[in-house]
Amino acid sequence: MSAHRTVPVDHKSAQRLLKQHLRLGLVDTSNTEEFGLWMVAMARGFHEQRPSPDELDEQLRGNAHRRTTGVWDAAAADPATPVATVSSWPTDMTVPGDSTVAAWAISAVTVSPTHRRRGIARALLESELRTAHTLAIPVAVLTVSEATIYSRYGFAPAAMSADLRIATPRAKWAGPVASGQLHLVSPEQLLDDGRELVKRVQLRAPGQLQLEERLWQRILCLIGDRERAKNTRVVRYDDGGGRPQGFAVYRVVDTGPGNSQQVLDLHYLVAATDDAYAGLWQYLIEMDLVGSVTASLRPVDEPLAWMLSDFRAVVKTNERDHLWVRILDVKTALEGRRYSSPGRVVLEVQDALNFTDGRYLLDIDGEGHGVVSLTAEPADISLTVNELGALYLGGTTLATLRQAGRIAERTPGAVATLDASFRSAVAPWLSFWF
Ligand SMILES: CC(C)(COP(=O)(O)OP(=O)(O)OC[C@H]1O[C@@H](n2cnc3c(N)ncnc32)[C@H](O)[C@@H]1OP(=O)(O)O)[C@@H](O)C(=O)NCCC(=O)NCCS
Repeated sequence: MSAHRTVPVDHKSAQRLLKQHLRLGLVDTSNTEEFGLWMVAMARGFHEQRPSPDELDEQLRGNAHRRTTGVWDAAAADPATPVATVSSWPTDMTVPGDSTVAAWAISAVTVSPTHRRRGIARALLESELRTAHTLAIPVAVLTVSEATIYSRYGFAPAAMSADLRIATPRAKWAGPVASGQLHLVSPEQLLDDGRELVKRVQLRAPGQLQLEERLWQRILCLIGDRERAKNTRVVRYDDGGGRPQGFAVYRVVDTGPGNSQQVLDLHYLVAATDDAYAGLWQYLIEMDLVGSVTASLRPVDEPLAWMLSDFRAVVKTNERDHLWVRILDVKTALEGRRYSSPGRVVLEVQDALNFTDGRYLLDIDGEGHGVVSLTAEPADISLTVNELGALYLGGTTLATLRQAGRIAERTPGAVATLDASFRSAVAPWLSFWF
């Protein structure tokens, strides 16, 4: 079994919970009864429906690879069902410069309503961060249901996303006309080609993570919502040589008989080439019987509006934080990405959980490679580990954070130097929830 599933539970958090007569433990995911109770507790924590036996079976198979942690209360009416849940797994996160760093993905954080506000979530989060640190993973990541919970653990929003609404009758196509071929295919037909494409495009935006097999199959509606699956369509774009270069998963939502202004809901679009991007969007925009296209979780620098005759046909309906990043090892994280311009800056980092406190010299050469060392030199910039996480993928600037009073510039010009270095040509983006 891989190390991430066998590292023992964090001693410090276990001791803290024990004082409240609670047990922190790992779930044996091959034990369907134990894992099933954990899954039911997790669904309850998110106020979701109880999974049917089939759904539960699918969830148990799809999540067995994760490190699965629970908290149990022996005094509860049903002591076998955990009162708190969390799951985690190692992944790779794309960083500026077409490379990746190892990241610790955290999900399924719930505490039973009967046990809230006693510090259980704090014990779980801290234990996850210490476990990732033990495994020498330099960064932890999560997507959040509320933006008020995770800053206290050193996380910050690092990649944003936007929802779009496109009024298609006014959105005449003015972009490049792609020369490839579109094919309507079944989700099953796209399973392997699409997985390969998703892997290929992962490097195109900082913030993308490896897509777990279960999430991939959900995107294709092969598992999960059976109702949604009924009118889900998949279109694949092949280049002139017949090689798949992109696909879109969408459905046209039936808004009543005789309605020629239906809504096309784009679920997922992947394009490995600019041609595929243009070909797929033109196809979606020009769909007959459709009055508008909606799309969620799209990148904030989507070029689509520039490809239409009416720039205002595309409205961003919801631009917000999506991927949250927590740096656990400044040297490995900062040396893992590339930089847009050279610079030499001393960063003073404060970390309430003491993983990364210190003064670091970041020395970036003309090729964009950074070397990080601890230093006694005076700081050019002071910031907390949260701001470092926010800046890491190039999703926000030091100038913005300085104006917001979140970082202090000790040496004039240091903010401008580092902003030029941290800049990413592509806005960071994560294309899915986890
Ligand atoms: C959010 C949740 C996990 C918190 O669990 P908890 O055990 O009550 O949290 P704790 O007692 O450990 O609280 C830790 C800190 O978070 C704060 N906090 C807890 N829930 C919060 C919330 N929903 N919003 C903002 N802050 C919250 C607490 O005030 C406390 O702050 P402090 O450290 O400054 O004292 C729990 O309420 C829950 O399961 N909610 C439903 C599922 C959910 O939203 N999960 C998060 C998925 S991203």
